[in-house]
Amino acid sequence: MQDFPAIEFPERIVNGVSYLQVCQLRDIPQKRGKNIYFDEETQIAIFSVAGKLFAVSNICPHQHAAVLAEGLIDDLTITCPLHGWMYSLENGKALGGGARLKTYKVFCEEEKVYLEKPQPVEPKWIRDW
Ligand code: FES
Repeated sequence: MQDFPAIEFPERIVNGVSYLQVCQLRDIPQKRGKNIYFDEETQIAIFSVAGKLFAVSNICPHQHAAVLAEGLIDDLTITCPLHGWMYSLENGKALGGGARLKTYKVFCEEEKVYLEKPQPVEPKWIRDW
């Protein structure tokens, strides 16, 4: 399977799922997300809310903008800072619309944050071409 070049996070398998140790818990800012950049099409925002971690695509489907880590957290939702689309952090669904963010498994152990290893995505402009 294809992999991301030049990404060297420590990897471990838990219950058959590959995880990457992407940061420390203290690296996730309060009231903002931490963007983990793999490539232009694969960027994952990790949020720490009420003692739980959530990981969703950092790319807002509205205008394909990589901005959700800078969004506004309210309860268990994230609001895009550009035009206000709101998404559930639990399942990635847009509130009041059909859009959806990809979600990823994430957990913390001994202050280290482990993120489900993403697979590279073919850019939409190539798929549509
Ligand atoms: S780019 Fe996110 S709501 Fe417009």
